This record gives sequence, C-alpha cells and structure tokens, in this order.
Amino acid sequence: MQWHLLSNETKHAFEQLKLQQTAKFHFDGKDICVAKLEDGIFGISNRCPHASASLHHGHCNKRGTIICPLHGYKFDIKTGRSTDGNNYKIPNYQFKIEDDKLYIGVKSY
Ligand code: FES
Repeated sequence: MQWHLLSNETKHAFEQLKLQQTAKFHFDGKDICVAKLEDGIFGISNRCPHASASLHHGHCNKRGTIICPLHGYKFDIKTGRSTDGNNYKIPNYQFKIEDDKLYIGVKSY
C-alpha cells in the first residue's frame, strides 16, 4: 500500500461529509466514490462495472454498502466486492489521518 498526502482542502471537504453521505473525488486520473462511515472514510471506483453509472449518485447504508442509482447493484465500499451475488470486484481505496493530515492509500500490484 502506498500512501499519498492529500490537500487540506480535500481534508476539509471530507470533514464536512455527513455519515453515509457519498461524494465524488478525483485522484490520479481516477474518479472515486467516497463515503463517510462511523469508522472512517472509504472509497471505491466511481464507475459501476454493470453499465457505467456514477456510484456517488447512489445510496450508502450504515454498513458501507453502495447501491448503484441505475439498476441497484450493491458494492461493499470497504472491499470493492459486490454484495448481491454478482461477481464484480472494483478498485477500493483507503484513507487515514495521521498528524492531522489526510492520506489516500493506493494498492500496488
Ligand atoms: S449501472 Fe450500476 S447496476 Fe447497472
């Protein structure tokens, strides 16, 4: 996992999110759907693998399931795996705060 420092503006924007609120975040050429849960900020690719809807327009429940706004497929924002029997696995991203700074974790393959 490689950690990348994000700007103070991004940190501030994430702090303004309400619990289970989703937002679109752009990083390193990728659009990411982020959501705030009780145990932190999490992110998955914003593009639904079924028919390319923007997942940040969907709904996030308490467990961190993102429900696609177009056809309702469900994804665990902590793992990127579908939770409704489909076999999709989309990229997921972790965030952490250290020394009052916000970082995004990108897996290196
Ligand atoms: S586009 Fe997301 S479920 Fe169809």
